[in-house]
Amino acid sequence: MKPYQLLRRRLIDTPKVWLVTGVAGFIGSNLLEALLLLDQRVVGLDNCATGSWRNLEQVRALVGSERWERFRHLQGDIRDLDTCRQATEGVDYLLHQAALGSVPRSIAHPAEVHACNVTGFFNVVLAARDNGVRRVVYASSSSVYGDHPDLPKAEHKIGRCLSPYAVTKLVDELYAAVFARCYDMEMLGLRYFNVFGPRQDPDGPYAAVIPRWISAMLRNEPVVIHGDGETTRDFCYVANVVQANLLAATRPHPPGADEVCNVAVHARTSLNQLCTLLQEQLLPACPHLKEFRPRYLEFRPGDVRHSEADISKAEQLLGYSPSHTVEQGLTEALEWYRENLV
Ligand SMILES: NC(=O)c1ccc[n+]([C@@H]2O[C@H](COP(=O)([O-])OP(=O)(O)OC[C@H]3O[C@@H](n4cnc5c(N)ncnc54)[C@H](O)[C@@H]3O)[C@@H](O)[C@H]2O)c1
Repeated sequence: MKPYQLLRRRLIDTPKVWLVTGVAGFIGSNLLEALLLLDQRVVGLDNCATGSWRNLEQVRALVGSERWERFRHLQGDIRDLDTCRQATEGVDYLLHQAALGSVPRSIAHPAEVHACNVTGFFNVVLAARDNGVRRVVYASSSSVYGDHPDLPKAEHKIGRCLSPYAVTKLVDELYAAVFARCYDMEMLGLRYFNVFGPRQDPDGPYAAVIPRWISAMLRNEPVVIHGDGETTRDFCYVANVVQANLLAATRPHPPGADEVCNVAVHARTSLNQLCTLLQEQLLPACPHLKEFRPRYLEFRPGDVRHSEADISKAEQLLGYSPSHTVEQGLTEALEWYRENLV
């Protein structure tokens, strides 16, 4: 039996208390759903800056009212230390997801992104330290690889940051290392690579490419590709990210240790390939996509050209084994996209 299957059984037998920050967001709400389905107790913290109550309503409908009783929701901001102290009381495992994402947003609004992603992160781990939460898993990002040319990306080789967002995630990793060293905490950073799946926001200028494109295709609106479409990404279905978080939170870990691991599939998909894949998947329900062609615009500043993860560290350290390829993830999420993105 695989480590993740074993873990899920163990968790059902011995439920824990989890704090998920950013719980009303895309990844946070998927973590909440998975944890409640495993009969865990969950505290969720969010200020709904980019997340939504609708995401939480969808989780409630999926898990049922009995399991929903095990969820305590705190509306609050991680920039406030007292709020973080309240949220971390009595918690076994902390999954820190709250942050302002998007490279372009960070270039347009660096101060706001710094406050949430660095000061907010600092508050969360400080509160965790003070409340004796020793195991902290936090969302880092593939953006920390910056301009390093090597592919696939391995954890120990990073380049210069290309955006304020990348700096915030790198600073988080530095703080995590110091908290592990100075306060004997167990810190595990997960460098996510382009995550997609249900409840990812398709709207607004900072939306991720997959929900934005699907939404545009369903509405018969233009799809814009920045650059020539040969930019590549290691797109990762959210179920893989949930798996990595749960394994990271519960793995045996020496005290005082800190690690970062890539979380992806170890596959490269170009934007042109992605566009064709989405078109093919949606075509049976959307005949208007038969003649569909994307529109090409200039490259965006701060975007890295190629991205692909070496996931061997996560495999060895966590027992991580991606359950979904890009195609499998898109197929699984298709129904949600069709019901929610039109
Ligand atoms: N989605 C991806 O592809 C991806 C890739 C790399 C890293 N990440 C990281 O994963 C984490 C989750 O991302 P996501 O895609 O679910 O984004 P999201 O925007 O859907 O979720 C983030 C959540 O954090 C909340 N939040 C933001 N600032 C807050 C604050 N000051 N106080 C309390 N809550 C706050 C938002 O309201 C939102 O619900 C983030 O840390 C992000 O940087 C995501």
